[in-house]
Parts: sequence; structure tokens; C-alpha cells
Amino acid sequence: MPTTRRGLFALLPPTWFAYTQSLQAADSTEAYWQLIKREFPLDDSLLYLNAANVCPASRLVLDRYQQFLRDFHANPSFQNREKYVPLEDRLRGKIASLLRVSADEIALTRNTSEGSNLVVRGLDLKPGDEVIITSHNHPSNNDSWKVRAKRDGFRVVSVDVPVPAVSAAALVESIRAAITSRTRVISVTHVTSTTGIRYPAKEIAALARERGLWMHLDGAQSFGAIDVNLGEIGCDSFSASAHKWSMGPLEAGLLYVRAARHKELWPAVVTAGWSETLVGARKFEVFGQRDDARLVSFEAAIDFLALMGMPKVEARLTALTGRLKQQFAAIDGASVRTNTDAALSGGVVKVDLPGRDLKPIYDRLWNEHRVAIAMTASGDSKGLRFSPHVYNTTAEIDRAVEALRQVARA
Ligand SMILES: Cc1ncc(COP(=O)(O)O)c(C=O)c1O
Repeated sequence: MPTTRRGLFALLPPTWFAYTQSLQAADSTEAYWQLIKREFPLDDSLLYLNAANVCPASRLVLDRYQQFLRDFHANPSFQNREKYVPLEDRLRGKIASLLRVSADEIALTRNTSEGSNLVVRGLDLKPGDEVIITSHNHPSNNDSWKVRAKRDGFRVVSVDVPVPAVSAAALVESIRAAITSRTRVISVTHVTSTTGIRYPAKEIAALARERGLWMHLDGAQSFGAIDVNLGEIGCDSFSASAHKWSMGPLEAGLLYVRAARHKELWPAVVTAGWSETLVGARKFEVFGQRDDARLVSFEAAIDFLALMGMPKVEARLTALTGRLKQQFAAIDGASVRTNTDAALSGGVVKVDLPGRDLKPIYDRLWNEHRVAIAMTASGDSKGLRFSPHVYNTTAEIDRAVEALRQVARA
């Protein structure tokens, strides 16, 4: 396979140019998104609204993965595999441009969980220190801290998440109120998977900076869904997965670590491939033998996002989720648990039917209408979680709402 600059660009399929031209020529918004949808091998009978869990990968990603996987196994020699070094560099560079940071600040990981755990395990923390988390952090950014705290004798302070959020200022205030002279880290979720609240990350990062704290941001539900500008946010670390909103391969992800903070983070897993001389955030990567073909196919997902442009993706998600929220609010007995304000939400919409057992409703949505969503059966984030993405049409949104209306009535 080619490794020259010219050769690398030749890796884009010849149909790519024609595809980008047809997107430019789309004569309506729906026609544009229909063309995007065509690139996903989703089963037509599905109403797939579970992007917050796993997104289908586009054909571009799947083709690239298959192409490199075959090439790798046809010729697993060191010589043939040398090409992955520049390809992975290029991937770091493209992720960095999307996030408006530098390529040396990007580590390639297996997923968000690995990225967050590299931070949890890599920071120097001692007995008496405090780490602030929120009650709606994912276990990889919640239990991970508690396990380490138990072992090393520091304290984890969990801030309750209001449902829905009162205001961005109130969310910042809830974090500020938890800070003490012993606080070392603030670790929050950009968009929660529970009820879809978007935390005001920039303001919390400013607060952390002002107090000299490390701020980690879990971006599992924001990377690929909203136009994340880490340069502007100013957090110290950010983790994300390829298989969620960026519609890339399974088992690939990223960890951003701000350059000025590299010296403060220990590599948590050290393997062959690691060395003191590694430059930038790649020294935090978990090497060992990796699936290079998979990492390279992540690049195709970034290309696909860049083709649409993140502002356009975010605007589409705002339109689709806005449509869901508005129509859910009109269903008898339904209560939308996610903020309606786009600034306080992302691609995740939670709706509850207070007083009702959700399991039979969830099952009927799947069995009778093929609506694929997620459900929380009880607790403060009880509800049905709908998370659409660019491959969903407005007609699908309307069909899913109608399905819920019918099932909720019976
Ligand atoms: C907010 C959040 N963080 C982390 C994760 C873990 O992601 P992964 O399983 O890709 O590591 C998830 C998964 O749903 C999530 O929603």
C-alpha cells in the first residue's frame, strides 16, 4: 500500500468526489440528509435512535477498515506495517483540527472509558485530596475515581445533577460550591448519557484554572454530536469514543491532554512501544499490539464529519431533538426530562411516563415498532432515551413519536 503523500490521498475511494458533489447539489435540507443516510448500512426496518450507545459506522469507515484489515493479514511483515506510523499521525492531526487543539495533545485509545481511566490512574493524588465528580457521570468517570480513592485514601465528592437543569449558571455554581482547599480535580461529563444535560464546560474549566485544579471532561456524548472546541473550552483532558457520535469503528477513541499539563500525568499502562522519548500525549497511549486497521478507519469517520462540518451536524441534531421534545410534550402523560434549551442539551432526549412501568412500553416499542432506544427503569433519570443522528430522517422521528403515543395509550 502507498505511503507517499500522493498515495495517501489516493486512499479515498474514487466515488468520494462524486458523492461530495451530489451533497453540494442537494436541493433541499431533507434531500441532503437522505444522501447522508444512504452511506449507512442500517436495516431499513429499524427506527434506530440509540446513537448515545453505539452508532452504525458509515460505508466509508467499513470499507477502509476492511481494506486495511485484508492488507494487514495479506502481509503482516514489519515492512508492510511501517505505513501505520504516518497514518496514525495523520489521524491524530485530523482529530486535533476537529477539536481545535494540537496533534501532540491527542492520544489514540480504545474508547472513552480507557481515556478517562488513564487520567484517573495517571494523576498524582494523595490521602486528604478531593476529586469532584457528578452523580450522573458514567461509571468510567465515577466508580473509577471511587476505586482509586479507596486504594489511595483520597475523597470523592459527588455533586447531584438536577433534572432538568435550572440554568448553566446553577450548574457552575453546584461545582463551585463543592470546591474546598483540598480539591485537586473536577471531573464532569460534557453531555450526560442519563438525561442529556450539556454542562457549561468552558465556565467550569475557567473555574478549575482559577483554582489551579485539573479539569477532566468526558466527551462520550459530545464528540461528533456538537461542535466541540477544546481550544476554547480550556479543559485539561477530554476523552471520547469513535463508535458513538463520530460514527467510527468499535474499539477506537481519543484522549486529549493539554500540553501544559503533560508533565503532571503518569502513563498508566506501560507496554512495548512506550518510551521516555515519545513526544506529546502519545506517551499516554496503551500500545501493545493494536488493531492498526481499525485505528486507520477512524480517520474515515473524521473525514465524514469534516465533510458535513460540525456546525451543520450540531444544527441537524438540534432540529431532530427539538422535534422529538416538542412532540413528546404533546403526548398525554409524558414528561420530557431533557432541557429544551439547545445550550443546555445535545443529542440525547429522555422522556418519562411518570407513574408507569417503562419496561413493557420499551419492549412493545421494539417488538411492535422496531424502535431501538435505551431505557432507565427507575431513579432520578428514569425514562426512555431517544438519541437520533444524521442518518435519521424527520419522518423517522415522527414515526417513533407516533409509536410511543400508541404504546403509551394502550
Ligand atoms: C458519558 C459516557 N461516558 C463514557 C461512556 C463509556 O463509553 P465507552 O464504552 O465507549 O468507553 C459512555 C457510554 O455510554 C457515556 O455515555
